[in-house]
Amino acid sequence: MPKITIHDLLKKKREKKKISMLTAYDYPFAKIVDEAGIDGIIVGDSVGMVVQGLENTLPVTMDEMVYHTRIVSRAVRNAIVIGDLPFMSYQASIEDAVRNAGRFLKEAGASAVKIEGGAEVADRIRAMAKADIPVMAHIGLTPQSIHRMGGYKVQGKTEESAKRLLEHARVVEDAGAAFLLLEAIPMGLAKQITDEISIPTIGIGAGPYCDGQVLVLHDVVGLFERFLPKFAKQYVNLRSLALEAISRYREEVEGGLFPTEDQSFK
Ligand code: KIV
Repeated sequence: MPKITIHDLLKKKREKKKISMLTAYDYPFAKIVDEAGIDGIIVGDSVGMVVQGLENTLPVTMDEMVYHTRIVSRAVRNAIVIGDLPFMSYQASIEDAVRNAGRFLKEAGASAVKIEGGAEVADRIRAMAKADIPVMAHIGLTPQSIHRMGGYKVQGKTEESAKRLLEHARVVEDAGAAFLLLEAIPMGLAKQITDEISIPTIGIGAGPYCDGQVLVLHDVVGLFERFLPKFAKQYVNLRSLALEAISRYREEVEGGLFPTEDQSFK
């Protein structure tokens, strides 16, 4: 199967076929996600919380994002890889945005980048698109704005804020975004946005009517123990499986049951 491109995702939207995405941050999991036939991998700055043990995503650096995106890209054959621009890699200037987005394609093997924000980053989206960098815009709950938003809260619940989000969606499409991530917004609003714009919408906590879905991998496989968002679904608990396996190993070492002669050299 050839590598999935933004054109394949657009075709899926037109044909009303659902798009599947997950995050990944390292080689072994990216390989599994890709083998499972997932369309797109977002190397999210959520790496800060689920891998680095940080309180939020703000401290994640551009160099760390390039490192994780590079090792994900190395594992992937089919899925489109999307690098996530971290806090302060695009806010200060359009030039920062283009240079840092370019690093994902030039140094890390990504085919697209994600940027948090709507109309306020439209000039960045336009400049990146002009530099031939496919962009996923991200509106609704944008975790890099937690201090302004006052926490991880559902967005677009009032008529006025819903109207504003719909306008943001139109503006980023007009600026040249290739797809749009909708995070933590009411499903009716996500449907309205999905129906109105021609680029694919990928939802996380945005209900079933988006063109596609994404979740944080560590939520799906049960490797993040701090909390499970209401919108996420855990399909397996790898943490308890790993804990059981590692505890058994410890018991066997302490009891003299491992290694046996089978694991030894003659
Ligand atoms: O950082 C992240 O993992 C995200 C997800 C919503 C894809 O932004």
